[in-house]
Amino acid sequence: MESTEESLRSALQEENRRFSDLHPTLKTHGLIVEKIIGRGAYSWVMKAIDKNRKKYVAVKMISKRTANENLIVKFIPRELDVIRELRHPHIIRFYDYIETTLWFYTVMQYAEEGTLLQLIKKQKKLSECQTLIYFSQLADALEYVHKRGIAHRDIKCENIVLDASDTLKLIDFGFACRVRSTGNKSGDKVPSPYFSTTFCGSLAYASPELLSLTPYEPQPCDVWATGVVLYVMLFGRPPFSNSKNVTVLLEFISKGLCIPEGNKVSADVEQLMRQIFVPVGKRLNAAQLRRCSWMQRATRKTRSTENMKNGVACNGITDRKRVKLDDANKT
Ligand SMILES: Nc1ncnc2c1ncn2[C@@H]1O[C@H](COP(=O)(O)OP(=O)(O)O)[C@@H](O)[C@H]1O
Ligand SMILES: [Mg+2]
Repeated sequence: MESTEESLRSALQEENRRFSDLHPTLKTHGLIVEKIIGRGAYSWVMKAIDKNRKKYVAVKMISKRTANENLIVKFIPRELDVIRELRHPHIIRFYDYIETTLWFYTVMQYAEEGTLLQLIKKQKKLSECQTLIYFSQLADALEYVHKRGIAHRDIKCENIVLDASDTLKLIDFGFACRVRSTGNKSGDKVPSPYFSTTFCGSLAYASPELLSLTPYEPQPCDVWATGVVLYVMLFGRPPFSNSKNVTVLLEFISKGLCIPEGNKVSADVEQLMRQIFVPVGKRLNAAQLRRCSWMQRATRKTRSTENMKNGVACNGITDRKRVKLDDANKT
């Protein structure tokens, strides 16, 4: 009799075969789909072997049948326009774009370690040391994107992935827009602000000006969302509320930043959050994030990045390594 494992394996093979049959175009491009690795609101993301590049890639697929008109005529072309030009160590590398009568496929670098959200869920929260490393990488990516006159508009833990060497990569530029003004040379100021009126992203990551449904500047909203990512890494929960009610959310925001009881963080990181979770006029911009005192520690730490990777920083071992060791001990 066939064991459960064998029948599961053959069911999976059958599923993959059927999937490949449904997407013959991928095969003709040398892409052999292995499994589903993610689901977004409008997309499926698959892990695939790229026979030409001789490595794994991620393929984001959007069906033209289910995608709405706005997505097809506005957001997909914008995402492509933006990701094509972005080249940064902390932004997922775009490889290829394929369009058929029924599907859009985006081929990109594959991030082996999954999303930041998955990691936080697994570890409940991250140490300040590990948060500092990831946050500095995210701030690096954000500064680069903003300097190019682009806003991401959907920064959240599900849109941040980690590769095999634990390096952070920003993904999902589906809501990105050009703010038209590229700022001065140092990238510190946006001389003529560009206002957007489309609500993008998730409520928990939305700044008060975005929640107020008035025209807003998209780049400062990215900084606020980055602050939410920082808070979620440190405390394993969103800073204001999980409520889907905008009025409730705005009420929580108006009460100001609160450090959950029983949690201790450095004065530097607390000060940074207090400079992010403020009205738009007073908020740090992406370039200023990089210069705050907490982030200066990250600059010093990058000198010992190799140590981090080898698990000798932060009390002798990184949390990632610790989880992996714990997992290994369980088996
Ligand atoms: N390059 C990648 N490597 C690994 N996983 C990815 C990659 N791109 C996307 N994913 C996974 O797929 C999910 C959905 O992808 P995303 O681009 O955010 O789609 P959507 O625009 O529909 O939100 C992500 O949250 C993540 O889990
Ligand atoms: Mg997404």
